[in-house]
Amino acid sequence: MERHSRSLLDLTNDPASIALKTPEYSKQSQAFVRAAEDLVDAARRKDGDAAPLAYVSMTLACVQCHRYVARARSRVTRTDMRRRLRRRVVARCSQRVDAPTSRSVPCPGRAR
Ligand code: HEC
Repeated sequence: MERHSRSLLDLTNDPASIALKTPEYSKQSQAFVRAAEDLVDAARRKDGDAAPLAYVSMTLACVQCHRYVARARSRVTRTDMRRRLRRRVVARCSQRVDAPTSRSVPCPGRAR
């Protein structure tokens, strides 16, 4: 448990996952750590009511964080794709300036 939490902390410090360095991510991470601590605590007290509840919160924190990460990832990917697509259109458009017979490609950002 501690190892997983620590590796999550390492992950937030990884420059490669800069997209995940958000306040929301650290909130998710804190929620998870808190639930995990509750579980450890309940287990130590042999509290048969609190332990399953803490276990469920922790599991929910797993799911919620993964869902958040998936959403954040897809947002980054979409923006990146759009940027790449635009670059390609611009390149094609400038190539076809002297070829009026070829299928014209509208130049983005230029008045028509
Ligand atoms: C604070 C955020 C966060 C929490 C909480 C969290 N994870 Fe993760 N988990 C991640 C991220 C980020 C990845 C990497 C996902 C990726 O690279 O696509 C990951 C990956 C994983 C993977 C590997 C998935 C794969 O396809 O390789 C497993 C298994 C996993 N988590 C299980 C859990 C479990 C079980 C819990 C709860 C006990 C948990 N995680 C809690 C953020 C979290």
